[in-house]
Amino acid sequence: MAEKLIFHKIADHPDELAWGDNHIAVAEASGKKICIGRYTDRFFAFAYKCPHAGGVLAQGWIDPLGNVVCPLHRYKFSLENGRNVSGEGYYLKRWPVEWREDGLYVGMETGGWGGIFG
Ligand code: FES
Repeated sequence: MAEKLIFHKIADHPDELAWGDNHIAVAEASGKKICIGRYTDRFFAFAYKCPHAGGVLAQGWIDPLGNVVCPLHRYKFSLENGRNVSGEGYYLKRWPVEWREDGLYVGMETGGWGGIFG
């Protein structure tokens, strides 16, 4: 079932984001701090904090297979689908990203998340 999303513009161009050497930038969408990851010239939006114990994923890194690795305990999450590919059973919240003519947009659910995904 498709969820209702509202797309929020986070930059006029991806180059405007403050990319780290780890190809992760921090952005804000709908008042929420999120991470944007760049992998094989695609962009992925995911939670700022790790679902395990709140590690700051912006300080992690993206492995060669396209997983974001948390800097605290090194659990890995697929950028593609949020799966905890290292097998601990967590799930990383993600949002769709669209690169449109006038900028980069992140789609967020209209209902809000109550902060449970950090
Ligand atoms: S806080 Fe991220 S793996 Fe533990």
